[in-house]
Amino acid sequence: MDGLEDIIAEIGRRCAAASERGTPASYIPKLGQVDPGQFGLVAVTADGREIAVGDADQAFSMQSIVKVFALTRALERIGDVLWQRVGREPSGDPFNSIVQLEHKSGVPRNPFINPGAIVVMDILQAGTTAQASIDDLLGFLREASGDFSIAVDPEVAESEDTHGARNRAMAHFIAAFRNLDNDPEEVLHTYFNACAVSITCRQLAWAGRYLAWDGLTGPNGRRVAASATARRTNALMLTCGHYDGSGEFAFRVGMPGKSGVGGGILAVVPGYASIACWSPGLDVAGNSKIATEALEELAERTGWSVFASQC
Ligand code: DON
Repeated sequence: MDGLEDIIAEIGRRCAAASERGTPASYIPKLGQVDPGQFGLVAVTADGREIAVGDADQAFSMQSIVKVFALTRALERIGDVLWQRVGREPSGDPFNSIVQLEHKSGVPRNPFINPGAIVVMDILQAGTTAQASIDDLLGFLREASGDFSIAVDPEVAESEDTHGARNRAMAHFIAAFRNLDNDPEEVLHTYFNACAVSITCRQLAWAGRYLAWDGLTGPNGRRVAASATARRTNALMLTCGHYDGSGEFAFRVGMPGKSGVGGGILAVVPGYASIACWSPGLDVAGNSKIATEALEELAERTGWSVFASQC
């Protein structure tokens, strides 16, 4: 589309200068040390253009955005039987809430809340070790992005583990309902390391291309996932990707999106673009305040929305 560079440059300038930036997550101490003044945005379009502004090459903690790639991997591995172990409905609760697990007999509402992602990690670990499943996930991110430097930040993984009492409670509670096949502590090891993957906006936008092009890395690209997997992952991102803020994100932005408490958001405009945006300050629902505003403005000015006729 014409003028896209100018639109993104203007959004970059406005977002870098914004005064109300939200608050970085501090419940994992390593995340609380990040400078909230940072902002990056990268869009990769159908014609293979990459438009980058701000701190596009500054690494940040992927956190829950990794759950998108884990779900894709698990669906590719076991297909629809996954849905016997994890639901696909919005939870209406915070990402780390335990309350619904008891009512649902240990079957989490969706794969993007923490208990759902823990079950997905268990599926990835079937027949292998925690380390091998982390390596598999990293391998997928590297292959999808074409960037082989993507890696886990061991200090963040350690910090997650040390402050992971809620996740630990959830994993053991799910195991009590026999919805984990592996040792809960091993599954948590996979989960903590997966959340601690360090990534830049540039790497993330390239890694997310398969979601915009039916499992291919571009209109004429390589296949890294089945088209049904990409379509269903997008559906879950739209309905559950922002936890208790998913309806608000769909209303304001209108793109399948997934946030992480590191302040990143991956957004997808099927057929048009893969977009990664990052700013560490969060809103009350735990989603990046400035990255959401940036994507809202981008949707407004480009017409990019799954609810608009031109998309
Ligand atoms: O489980 C946790 O607390 C984190 N590792 C992931 C949480 C997260 O990113 C939720 N996102 N908005």
